[in-house]
Amino acid sequence: MNQQQLINLAFTAADNAYTPYSNYKVGACLLCKDGNYFLGANIENASYGATNCAERSAVFAAYSYGYRKDDFDTLCIVCYGKTIAAPCGICRQVLSELLNQDTPIVLANKENSMVTTIAELLPMQFTSEDMK
Ligand code: THU
Repeated sequence: MNQQQLINLAFTAADNAYTPYSNYKVGACLLCKDGNYFLGANIENASYGATNCAERSAVFAAYSYGYRKDDFDTLCIVCYGKTIAAPCGICRQVLSELLNQDTPIVLANKENSMVTTIAELLPMQFTSEDMK
C-alpha cells in the first residue's frame, strides 16, 4: 500500500468520526506488516474527557485483535483542518508504549503530509522502566 492509499483509508475513518461537540473529524489507519489494517476515528462524548481520539481508537482496535507493536508498519493520522494535526499529549503517551519508537507516523490533511515517529513527538518518555 502506498502513502496516498493509506491517507485515503484514514479519511474514510474520519468520515465515520462521531463529533457532535467539536465537529472536528480525525481519522487514523494503522497498517500492519501482514497487510491488514485497522481504522480509527475520534468518538466524542457529552462528558468531554471520555472522548477517544482517532489514533487511540485504531491502535486499541489492533491490540484487541492480538496485534502488537512489532506487527505494525505505519500509523497514519489525518484531519480536515487547515493545519496537519499532531497527536495530543494523551495519545503520545499511549503511542509511546504501544508503538515501536521508530514506526513511521504519517500526519496529513487534504493539502500536506509529513512523516514523524513517536521518538520525535515525545522525548523523555515516562515508561514502566521508571517504576522499577
Ligand atoms: N483529536 C483526535 O482524534 N486526534 C488528535 O490527534 C487530536 C484531537 C480529536 C479529539 C476531539 O474529538 C477533537 O479532535 C477535538 O479535540
